[in-house]
Amino acid sequence: TMMRELSGLNSLEEQVKKRLGVEKVIIVSGDSDESPWVKSELGRASATCMKGMLEGENIIAVTGGTTMAAVAEMLTPELGKDILFVPARGGIGEDVKNQANTICAKMAEKAQAKHRVLYVPDQVSNEMYQTIVKEPLIHEVLTLIKSANIVLHGIGDAITMAKRRKTSASDLEKIREKKAVSEAFGYYFNEDGEIVHKVHTIGLQLKDIADVEHVIAVAGGASKAKAIRSYMKQDRQNTILITDEGAAKELLIK
Ligand code: G3H
Repeated sequence: TMMRELSGLNSLEEQVKKRLGVEKVIIVSGDSDESPWVKSELGRASATCMKGMLEGENIIAVTGGTTMAAVAEMLTPELGKDILFVPARGGIGEDVKNQANTICAKMAEKAQAKHRVLYVPDQVSNEMYQTIVKEPLIHEVLTLIKSANIVLHGIGDAITMAKRRKTSASDLEKIREKKAVSEAFGYYFNEDGEIVHKVHTIGLQLKDIADVEHVIAVAGGASKAKAIRSYMKQDRQNTILITDEGAAKELLIK
């Protein structure tokens, strides 16, 4: 629209897109670090973006975090019919309100759509893990997750995320030592976008993301610019980034 052109958001979007090598960039005005309502605007932009993608039957896999929770709040039944929300991955140590399961239930409630949950213990031994994934109900949800046509995820600052989750002292040390900068889906990445640590859970793995039709990353606030840059270092050509002016301007600095 005219407002976006006048405020330079369109040109900012083009510059960030070129810089990060992603499919598309959508920027909302403001900085969510400073103004909490900007997170809601990120949510609104995500809802609009998703609406334009929905066709036929849709499975939307979502991650956890406060940004995803803000997206959930902005969904309405207008989003469309035939949507099933599933959590992208099992628990990764977050508080209930920030868990993918909770958020995906909220999204379904707001959009008047369906959802499935993936209730599995957070940290299990490999033996236990092999048994769990064979449970018919779990297996069914995992199959749905792997066939998602849309993945909606947050990107976090590595240390902030590690501290917020129940990360063990030894893992926290490893995350620090290996200079993790960003986090997404329970994976921690360094400045070059290389995986330096991973929370072992079931559900979508990073390699699965490459085959998903639409991947939408939502992250804003100047303080997240470093994390966004790190996560986007590797090939994220099929990712649409929804961010705010605060993060976008910081992203273009270095
Ligand atoms: O998984 C969590 C995200 O990576 C970031 O969480 O939206 O609360 O910053 P956030």
